[in-house]
Formats: sequence, C-alpha cells, structure tokens
Amino acid sequence: MSAQPATQWWRDAVCYQVYVRSFADSNGDGVGDLDGIRGRLGYLADLGVDAVWITPFYRSPMADGGYDVADPRDVDPLFGDLEAFDALVHDAHERGIRIIIDLVPNHTSSQHRWFQEAVASPPGSPERARFHFRPGRGPDDSEPPNNWPSQFGGPAWHQAGAEGQREWYLHLFAPEQPDLNWHNPEVHADLEETLRFWLDRGADGFRIDVAHGMAKPAGLPDAEAAQQGLISDSGGDVRFDHDDVHEVHRLMRRVVDDYPDRVLLGEIWVRNDARFAMYLRPDELHLGFNFRLAEAPYGAEDMREAIEHSLHAVAEVGATPTWTLSNHDVTREVTRYGGGELGLRRARAMALVELALPGVIFVYNGEELGLANVELPDEALQDPVWERSGHTSRGRDGGRVPVPWDGDEPGFGFTTGRPWLPMPTEWSKLTVAAQLDEPRSTLSLYRRAIELRHEHRGFASALDWLPAPDGCFAYRRAGSSLVCMLNTSAEAVPLPAGEVLLSSAKLVDGLLPPDTAVWVA
Ligand code: NOJ
Repeated sequence: MSAQPATQWWRDAVCYQVYVRSFADSNGDGVGDLDGIRGRLGYLADLGVDAVWITPFYRSPMADGGYDVADPRDVDPLFGDLEAFDALVHDAHERGIRIIIDLVPNHTSSQHRWFQEAVASPPGSPERARFHFRPGRGPDDSEPPNNWPSQFGGPAWHQAGAEGQREWYLHLFAPEQPDLNWHNPEVHADLEETLRFWLDRGADGFRIDVAHGMAKPAGLPDAEAAQQGLISDSGGDVRFDHDDVHEVHRLMRRVVDDYPDRVLLGEIWVRNDARFAMYLRPDELHLGFNFRLAEAPYGAEDMREAIEHSLHAVAEVGATPTWTLSNHDVTREVTRYGGGELGLRRARAMALVELALPGVIFVYNGEELGLANVELPDEALQDPVWERSGHTSRGRDGGRVPVPWDGDEPGFGFTTGRPWLPMPTEWSKLTVAAQLDEPRSTLSLYRRAIELRHEHRGFASALDWLPAPDGCFAYRRAGSSLVCMLNTSAEAVPLPAGEVLLSSAKLVDGLLPPDTAVWVA
C-alpha cells in the first residue's frame, strides 16, 4: 500500500450528499437503499458530481435514522447487504464517481454488542469501561452524574444495568446512542478495524460524524453554559471540542494514509476559526464542514462575512475550504430564505454563489430540485427530537422528505410503496423528470453551473473581492476568469463587465435584478 494521497482529487470536487433513506428505493418498502443509489448513478453522473457522500447504512435499530450503529461493519437489511455496497462502489468508480461513507465514532447504538455486554456486566468492569458509566448524585443515586443536556432534549444521562448494578451512562444524543469512552484503547482499535474494513472494500473516504465530539473532559465536570442545539462555540460547551479529540483524528489519518487517494471529512460544529483550523492540521482531517454559510441569514453582508470566516479558518493551516447550504440536519435553504417563490429565487442565487467558490461544494439531495422543507403532520414525524423535546421542536424530518423522481403522484418514482415520510402532491412539478428538459428549471441551473465550474477551474482556496454596489457582492476565484455577483438589494444593479455565462433569474434591461446572482467571464 502506498503512503500519502497522490492527487487530492477532492480539492475542487462537487460532492453530492445522499441521505440514504430518502434518495431512491429499489424494493418498494418505502425507504431508500444502496441498490436505489446504484440505479441513479447515471443521474448523478449527468449532474456532474465527482463524489457522493452516503449517510449511515450500517446495522441499526434506526432510533436516529441510522446514526445509532449496532454493527459498523455490516449493512442493515433495510438498505441492502455488503454485496450491494460492493456493487455500488464498483459501478460508481466505473463512472468516475467516488464514494464517501459516514463514520459514527462518538457513539454506538444501545443494541451494539458492546453496550449489551456493558449493561449485563457489573460497575467497574472492562465492559462498562468502553462507555461512560457513572454512579449518580444525591443520596440514592437518583440524580444524573452531571448537568449535561442531550442534543436532542432532556438530560444526557440514562440509567441501565441489572438490579443492584445500575449506573448512569452518558448519551449526548438519544438514549439509544451511548457515548463511547475515547480514553479506552479498545475503542481506538475497533475504529481502526472499521476504517480498514471499508477502505479495503473501496470506500474513497469518510465523513466523520460529530468530529468535534468523542473526547470528554476528565471527571466529566458540570457544564457552566451547556447549550442546546448543535453548535459549540469553543470554550462555552464542555461537551464538545475538547483538545484530546485531535488524538482520535491523528489515529484516523494514520490509517487512511495507508491507502492512496482517500479523504477524511469532519462534521465540525465549531465556530471559532482558530479552533476549527486545528482539525485540519496536516496530520488530521483533510476537510471539515464549515457551517457558516448554512447558518448565515440571507443578505450580502452576512453571506460575505460567512465566506470570509470559512476561508480564514482554513487558510491558517493551508487546508481546502468547503461549502454547504444545507444537509439532513438543517432547514432547507428555500425555506430559510423566506419560502415560496422568494425563497426559491434566493436559493437559486445562492447556488451560483456557492458553486463559484474555491474548494469543495456539497449539494444535499433535492437541493438541485429547489425543494423546500415540508410541513409534516405530527403523526408522520420520526426524528427523535420530536419526542425528546416533549413536542416542542418538530425536528429535522421536514428537510428529509424523499426525492421526487417522476410521475404525478406521491411516491414520485422514489418508491413503488409508501414513502417513509409523506411527499406533497405539489411536488409533481418538481420531479427530476419535470425539470430535466426545462431550461429554466433549478435542476438545469445546477447542471449548467456544475458544468461551467468544471470548465472554469481556479485555485482551490482563494478568491478576490471586487467592487460592488450596496447590498451586493462580487468575487473572482483566484486563478479563474469567472466573476460571480450577488444582488440582495431591492434595486436592479449594473452587471460586472464581461460575457454573461449564467444567471439565476432573468436579467432585466441588462441589469442584475434583486435576489439574483450572475456569472460573468
Ligand atoms: C450528526 C448527524 O448529521 C445527525 O443526523 C445525527 O443525529 C447526529 N450527528 C448524531 O449522530
């Protein structure tokens, strides 16, 4: 096996996120699966993507959509089997598409063999030492060991064990997702085994779930300002971004470096640029999701600030920036930017902003169709957040509704059965089939933009800001002739000089209208 990656193919890549449950169902059970993805590789190739990131498809009781992993080295029957994975990798590689898979090192499922063994073993046993088991507080142990909240609501502790052997165990997410103890060498060894298992099968890389989690402070002290929500702002939240986590990333990097051309991509909810940069040091992760752009309110000033922070964070360590407008954990951008026609218009403009930026672009399945969040009825909701929050937060299902492919009725070619989340009838106008040959569709915009992006390559990590009117910004990616300008003001403004390559909405009298972006060369 060779050492260092030879090509760094990802430095300029467009990567498509497949939320496996919602992309394509091959067997009519209403849930997307690996064969479903394989059947749609032609679509992904035509879209022009270089890589696909697939969310967890491992054995799981599905308490958190598969992020509760009972066996990280097998495929859940709901999604297929190992042969289906091998076939997917084979066919994707034939088309030049790389496959990045999800890795969930912060926690397991409560159905994982290790946790079952821990529950059946006494306090102080090696079985319990793979997790964070603690006695409680108060005279009869009735209070959790500390005040940490779970990200999904309620305390981050539950009790488990036989009568007389009960202890509290830590779960930063659902109770069905016990946190692993990363000070335990067995946990390290098992992760290495999982990495090699999938690398040997041809996976091109890993997206690391909660890459800022894993390491916990010694003694698990009370939090002063533990926050609800997915953001850790460095220093404010003892549950995340502990310095020891970098040891884990170094371990992963050492393993991955045994294989050529593989990539590590962290989910890093850390806002502080310098803390963020630490994850991307040369012996840690290659890439990290920076969520600044997805968090920024719509408007030129806020968007520009988000872009500058994201660039600044990676510049410190010479890493490649990444850009994402949405994923399966956040509200879709059409909805965030105001919903309806306006939200869609703005989302299309932001697509051109994103796709002209230097570095790696992530497109979340359905984003290229201009899908908005769906208001689902209470009884359809499946995200654990809904129950855990005592029905105060509806959770993330609204942005996870399956992708509509074709036809006039719900199911829309995603499934021949009943989709696991209801699909709105209005989506008949938004199916892939309805948009494919329509030049003004959002799908056509994405396809053309990705094609142009590949033609107008520039340097992977820098851009120059150009003068622009109030409420607008314009930039050129260093090394490229392509200029992108966004207008978020209420007035139409003059275009930058040059030939218009693409615009997110019709130009009016040679001007750039409000909520529109243009590419000029
Ligand atoms: C981040 C994943 O993206 C999210 O969907 C999941 O609920 C948590 N990590 C816990 O694994």
